[in-house]
Amino acid sequence: MAETGADTAALLARGGYIADPELATTVHLALAMHRPLLLEGEPGTGKTEIARVLATGLGRRLVRLQCYDGMDLSAAAYAWDHARQLMAIRLAEAAGDRDRGELTRSIFSRDFLERRPLLDAIDPALLLIDELDRADEPFEAYLLELLADFQITIPELGTIRATIPPVVILTSNRTREVHDAIRRRCLYHWVDYPSATRERAILAARAPGIAERLSAEIVAFVQRLRRLDLYKLPGVAESIDWAAALTHLDRDTLTPETVDETLGVLLKYQDDIARIRGAEAARLVAEVQAAS
Ligand SMILES: Nc1ncnc2c1ncn2[C@@H]1O[C@H](COP(=O)(O)OP(=O)(O)O)[C@@H](O)[C@H]1O
Ligand SMILES: [Mg+2]
Repeated sequence: MAETGADTAALLARGGYIADPELATTVHLALAMHRPLLLEGEPGTGKTEIARVLATGLGRRLVRLQCYDGMDLSAAAYAWDHARQLMAIRLAEAAGDRDRGELTRSIFSRDFLERRPLLDAIDPALLLIDELDRADEPFEAYLLELLADFQITIPELGTIRATIPPVVILTSNRTREVHDAIRRRCLYHWVDYPSATRERAILAARAPGIAERLSAEIVAFVQRLRRLDLYKLPGVAESIDWAAALTHLDRDTLTPETVDETLGVLLKYQDDIARIRGAEAARLVAEVQAAS
């Protein structure tokens, strides 16, 4: 295991993830202290990705639970395979089996249990509980219990406990506030947009082959966009996509025309695009060129 925050940063970098020192240290501490890690931040800032890269780096299976409104236990933790249970009952009846107690025990055994992510993560894993802000409060309450001692109680079967507790990463895009009780259990990091230097390093890792100059221009442009009052600011994912798009179009420098043509890669709302296209794009390109 990584001994320091710097080792953790190196482990992540080997998987193409460029973390700032605070994030790397928080990840390191979460691992060392066996605490869940809550990552909050705007969409596209690398919250989901860090779980993927960390799982690979640690050699752990990634188990991902994508949260949504109305998600229930049967989607999150476990469900009984009713069709197979019914089949087993029919077969028992056909065979003339009349021992109901025995039948009940056999159809409520692990053979008929379908593991969903939370139960699945009880074997050594990295459990990613993604976009927790989309789930509802009853689910958070259930999660709280689970995070306390990583065990799941199945009424028909008993309590299943993790021998090696999973590494747990929770993410939130902050469409609503995650409950205090969850926050207290976790170590916390706000994943911000990267600095220009870090974003250049991310492009080097994620859009290999891109020319140094174009990469610098893309980053300078995107960083300027993020200072504007737009409805949805471009995330790191958008910078990477833009780099790929411009490479695809064989462009090696930004021009106002190129920006106008490709704005749909960066901005996903018409009001934002209308605001930037034309004069504003030209102004930003001029600033970027003057600064480089
Ligand atoms: N620090 C980073 N290092 C490398 N790639 C990153 C980083 N941050 C974001 N990315 C890239 O941006 C994309 C979007 O990140 P993602 O984790 O899906 O964002 P979020 O979950 O915060 O919405 C990822 O596919 C990844 O390629
Ligand atoms: Mg995500």
